[in-house]
Amino acid sequence: MESYKKSIIFIAISFLLMLVLIGCNSSDAQEQPINTGLDPDEWNNLAFKDIYPLHWESYMKNMENEKEVLPKNDPSIEPFLPILWNGFGFAVEYNLTRGHTYAFEDQMNVRRITQNPNAISACMSCKTTVFPAMLEEFGPERAYQLNYHDEALPWLEDFAGEYKGMMTDEHGNVAEWGHASVGCSTCHDPVTMELRISLPQLTDALDRLGFDFENVTQHDMRSLVCAQCHVEYYFDPLNDRQTTFPWGYGLTFEDMWEYSEYQASREGGFQGEYVSTISGTPILKAQHPEYELWSYGPHQTVSCADCHMPYQRVDGKKKVSSHRWGSPMNTMEESCLTCHGDKSVTYLENRVNDIQYRHKDALLRAQEISVSAHYYVNRMITRGVDEDKIKEAQALVREGQWFWDMPAAENSYGFHNPDGAMASFTRSIEKSQQAIILATRELMKLGEDMEELERQIEITKENVINEEIHHEKHKQAINEWFPNVRDN
Ligand code: HEC
Ligand code: HEC
Ligand code: HEC
Ligand code: HEC
Repeated sequence: MESYKKSIIFIAISFLLMLVLIGCNSSDAQEQPINTGLDPDEWNNLAFKDIYPLHWESYMKNMENEKEVLPKNDPSIEPFLPILWNGFGFAVEYNLTRGHTYAFEDQMNVRRITQNPNAISACMSCKTTVFPAMLEEFGPERAYQLNYHDEALPWLEDFAGEYKGMMTDEHGNVAEWGHASVGCSTCHDPVTMELRISLPQLTDALDRLGFDFENVTQHDMRSLVCAQCHVEYYFDPLNDRQTTFPWGYGLTFEDMWEYSEYQASREGGFQGEYVSTISGTPILKAQHPEYELWSYGPHQTVSCADCHMPYQRVDGKKKVSSHRWGSPMNTMEESCLTCHGDKSVTYLENRVNDIQYRHKDALLRAQEISVSAHYYVNRMITRGVDEDKIKEAQALVREGQWFWDMPAAENSYGFHNPDGAMASFTRSIEKSQQAIILATRELMKLGEDMEELERQIEITKENVINEEIHHEKHKQAINEWFPNVRDN
């Protein structure tokens, strides 16, 4: 009797133990230190293919576009960009995003690069796994300011060109430079596969903020790997044009504005990416500040990877972090319901749509007012208003533009931080309106026909919308009424 009981208990325990073991196995827990056997400086994505076939398969899904890659200045998206960025490459070509596997190739082929003989290698610092090798080769003094076409590309072709065109998905789509595009070594140590920061622009920026690298958590790293690129930046003329984040005063749009203005006030400091041909204003062009906007939003305790790289079961049983970076709205079960289990997918979709709808509405309003501000200042210049007044109005145009451009360049349409984005639009509208009021006062002193001015602005906007060739639209923004005030 006694021994019968014992053996039942024994069998029960063995059974439980077995379940635990099977459980561990199927959740793919990785407690053992990993050694891939790869070179510590491995940069080629193809090198990881056979070691991590499931991650590779997921990564290659980035080759399938989730949405049509439209030009952003399409009338259905942001129709007035060719006016607002007039005088800068972004007015010529700027497209919606697509997968990481295409990042490098898309950069090489965009007119902002192909038509700009002065483009520099700093542009590559958030596109390719080869950038750390370029740094090694040229040193930080030269690596960022090589001529893109005459120096950087030939070196790259030599260094990494032999694998070109080797990344093809099952539909035969080729990512020409996919083997060197945003990839494994960008976020992982090639030997241990631990998450790492491979691009010094982030380490430097965190250093300046006094970030505690010793105590960085895995949770932090699940967002910091993205912060290498999904941030606002400029190429610092006071520091060999190195890619630099304006984080000296903090990460809100307001903080970054103050810091950028402080930089601009310094002798030889960064003034902006270009001077507007319409208003003569030096403009700070916003990049993609996803990390910053998220950092003071309602989901700041949720990492980028939690939503954008949820665990997915593949191969029947194994759980791997999704390596297809796209819209979490396509993976809501894994991305959202893990926390919002009390809500339905439809409820959450509606909430997100509401946020994004309000955001786009405010964005378009802020852009239209900014357009008027640019043209009013153009008129101040051609009518010969006092230099001081023009400068004052330009400062307002500059601020108005930054505060719509930051939330516009941020790619979540406000989802990452609805209130932060809205506060930015409010400030934008306020500043652009102040510029218009100032200009109106000065122009009326000169007897300007304000109704005619308004009419000419509307005609010009129509011409921009009606031009069908996207990269020609910017030419319609300048005319006899509103001449280029920069290049003469
Ligand atoms: C943009 C950054 C990024 C890139 C690029 C990237 N990974 Fe990851 N990877 C992550 C993150 C984040 C995790 C989750 C790590 C964690 O929290 O433990 C992860 C996890 C992993 C894991 C651990 C198991 C798992 O699924 O969580 C492996 C293995 C892995 N990645 C392989 C790869 C390979 C192979 C490539 C290139 C084809 C690659 N990764 C590219 C960010 C990246
Ligand atoms: C080395 C720079 C780099 C890093 C690191 C990086 N990204 Fe990206 N990401 C890009 C670039 C560049 C694009 C646009 C590519 C294009 O349009 O060709 C992009 C595009 C995206 C897209 C849009 C994809 C689409 O189909 O439209 C998402 C989502 C995204 N990244 C999320 C992330 C997340 C989350 C992380 C961190 C886990 C991350 N990225 C890390 C550079 C980076
Ligand atoms: C709480 C979930 C969540 C977190 C956390 C989160 N995102 Fe997002 N992200 C979203 C949603 C939802 C969208 C909007 C997708 C859409 O419009 O279809 C989005 C959009 C994006 C896009 C644009 C995608 C595209 O198709 O163009 C990028 C890039 C991006 N996020 C990067 C990041 C980065 C980087 C972080 C961390 C700093 C982050 N996200 C944190 C949920 C999240
Ligand atoms: C790791 C947990 C976590 C995940 C994953 C997560 N959320 Fe949240 N969500 C939160 C928390 C925490 C809040 C903040 C609640 C608060 O502010 O009181 C929140 C708030 C929200 C809100 C209301 C705040 C607002 O912006 O108006 C919405 C909507 C929302 N989440 C949608 C989503 C969607 C969509 C996803 C997936 C793409 C998602 N969440 C993923 C934890 C999460």
